[in-house]
Amino acid sequence: MIGGLVIPTGVPTKESEQVTYTLDTAHQKASDMVKSIPANLTEYRCPLCGQVFSSYADMKEHYEINHYGSIPPVMITLKLNGKLCELLVEPHWTLKRTLQFRLGLTGAKHMCDKGVCGSCTVIVDGRAVLSCQMLAVECEGKEIETIEGIAANPKWKPLIDAYCRWDAMQCGYCTPGFLVSAKNLLDRNPHPTEQEIREALAGNICICGTYPRHAQAIMEAVQVMSEGA
Ligand code: FES
Ligand code: FES
Repeated sequence: MIGGLVIPTGVPTKESEQVTYTLDTAHQKASDMVKSIPANLTEYRCPLCGQVFSSYADMKEHYEINHYGSIPPVMITLKLNGKLCELLVEPHWTLKRTLQFRLGLTGAKHMCDKGVCGSCTVIVDGRAVLSCQMLAVECEGKEIETIEGIAANPKWKPLIDAYCRWDAMQCGYCTPGFLVSAKNLLDRNPHPTEQEIREALAGNICICGTYPRHAQAIMEAVQVMSEGA
């Protein structure tokens, strides 16, 4: 996925059918994903019948008349990766589901969905949280950082770079959660000890067993960032 690996797209027969992902293209892709999220809703679609309205008030009125007794979607505004964004969510949707299915941000991964594995970690108002355990409606007005926002920010390139250099991933499924936890640690403590790193990552599970590499990668990133500061 990153670090210069060549990833086959489907079953390629020619070299031209392969896509090469490097740290730069991964950074660019993350930036594009963050930029592509629209700030304002321009239409309000009834999830029950698909009818489209030009205002939230019209859609709520439609609910009262045509879907009496059903709970309409809620309109919320998130500050997502530094950008305000309005969206309609069902009241029971988790933040993880909203990021993935409403906004196309698939970095926070679906694994246990029970608050156990840490693969869905995001940062909300400066705290690392499990997005599978938080409702989207609870995030109204809160600042949310996802792995896409972190990968798009050049400040954190040394961290991602160090993860690649230390090969701190196998399948990579847990990696975004680890990186978000690591970034949250470095925000609070820019020069952590190895023990502090291990404690900060204790809520992240890797079934491929890459644990020893994370502390090494983070300590190297700290050194590179200190030298560049
Ligand atoms: S998917 Fe959220 S903690 Fe496992
Ligand atoms: S690298 Fe596969 S689950 Fe961690």
